[in-house]
Amino acid sequence: VITDDELGALLHAFFSEQECSYIALSGSYAKSAEAPTKVTYRPVKMRQAVQWQASEQRGNKVYHRNIAPAELAEDLQTLLAAHFKQAVLFGNRNDLHVMHSRKGGYTFLRKPPSRSLMIAEHNRPKEYLLPTGEPIDFLIKLKVMRPTGELHSNKSDKFRQINRFLEIVDDTLGNFSAHQELNIIDFGCGKAYLSFALYYYLTKIKGFTVSILGLDLKADVIAFCNQLAQELDYKGLHFAVGDINSCANPCSRVDMVVCLHACDTATDAALERAVRWQARVILAVPCCQHELYSKIESQPLETLLRHGVLRERFAALATDAARAELLEMMGYKCQVMEFIDLEHTPKNLLLRAIRQQGNSTQRQKLAANRYRAFAKGLSITPDLERRFAQELTSLGGTPP
Ligand SMILES: C[S@@+](CC[C@H](N)C(=O)[O-])C[C@H]1O[C@@H](n2cnc3c(N)ncnc32)[C@H](O)[C@@H]1O
Repeated sequence: VITDDELGALLHAFFSEQECSYIALSGSYAKSAEAPTKVTYRPVKMRQAVQWQASEQRGNKVYHRNIAPAELAEDLQTLLAAHFKQAVLFGNRNDLHVMHSRKGGYTFLRKPPSRSLMIAEHNRPKEYLLPTGEPIDFLIKLKVMRPTGELHSNKSDKFRQINRFLEIVDDTLGNFSAHQELNIIDFGCGKAYLSFALYYYLTKIKGFTVSILGLDLKADVIAFCNQLAQELDYKGLHFAVGDINSCANPCSRVDMVVCLHACDTATDAALERAVRWQARVILAVPCCQHELYSKIESQPLETLLRHGVLRERFAALATDAARAELLEMMGYKCQVMEFIDLEHTPKNLLLRAIRQQGNSTQRQKLAANRYRAFAKGLSITPDLERRFAQELTSLGGTPP
C-alpha cells in the first residue's frame, strides 16, 4: 500500500520513463449526478504542442478539458482520489494499474503493455481526428454513435466522411491566427452533421473560439438543428432558414465557407457568396452537376459525348474544372481533391480554395485566359461564369 505522496512520485516516474497512449479511470464512487462516472485521457496534437484531452462522463453528458502534460499526473491523481476505484495507464513499456482503497492508500501492479502490443501486432486502425470508442455528444444525438462510444452499425461511412472533412479543414487552419474567432458559414447545411462536427472539433479539440452559421431552405431541419445546438450547449453554433442565392452577409469578416452536397447550381451560389465576402477558405463538395449535360458541344470529343453515361460524368468534371479555374481567376488558389473513396459515395470531389494575399493579378489573368479557352472549346457558359462575367471581361485579356 502506498500513500498519496508515493502515488504522485509513481505517476511522475511513469510519465518520464515511457510514452503513455491512453489512461482510463473506472469504478466510480459517484453518488451525485454531477460526479464523473468515467474519465479517459488521450494525447491530442494541438496547434503548437501535444496536450492531453480528458473526456469526463457526467450523467449522460461528456465534457472535455485540455491539460498540459506537466499537469497530467496531478489532474489524474485528484480525480482518482475523489471519485474512482481504479486507474489504468497504458504505456509503451508497461501498463500501470492503480487501485484506490476507500480505507485509504493505493496499491498498484505493472502489467505487459497491452495497447502498444495490440498496435504492433495488428494493423493499427486508421487514426481519426474524432476518437472512436469515446462517447461524443453530438454524434450520439445524431444517432451516429451509441452512448457507449461505439458507432451504430450502418453509420461507419458517415463517421468516415465526417473525419475526412475534418482532416481537410485541419489542413487549412494554418491560415488563421491562434487567437482569432473564426466566422464560418455552412451553406445548405441540411441536418448539419458537418456544422456540429466543425464546432466540436474546432472548439473542443483545437481550442478555437468560433461562430458558425448553418443555412438551409428547410425550416423544419433548421428548427431541429437549433434545438440540438441548444441541448448540447454549443454556444456560437446557430442555424437560419435562407436561400444561398439571396442571403446577406451575417458577419463583418467571413473566414471559412463550407458547402457540401448542395445540389447543382446551389454550389455556384455558395461559391459566389464566399468570393464576394472574401472568405479566406472555401471548401465545397459539389453534387448533381446537371447544368452542362445538355449544353456541352465539342467536335473532337464527339466519341465521348455520344454516350450518355460518359457525357454525364464528363459534364460533372467539366463543371468542377470550370469552377476551380474561375476561383483562381478570382484570386484563390484552388485544389480539386478526393473527398472520400468512390466506393463510399459518387460525390467524391472537393474544391479547396484559399484566398491569396498580395498582388495576384498576373495569376488571375492567366487563369482567366485558361478559362476562356476551356469554355470556348466546350461551348459552355456555366452558372459561375455568368456570376463572375464582369471580372472575366476585365481580367480576360484577349479571348483566344
Ligand atoms: C444533400 S443536402 C446536404 C446536407 C449537408 N451539407 C451534408 O453534406 O450532409 C443539400 C442541402 O442543401 C439545401 N439547399 C439546396 N439549395 C439551397 C439553397 N439555394 N439555399 C439554401 N439551402 C439549399 C437543401 O435544402 C439540402 O438540405
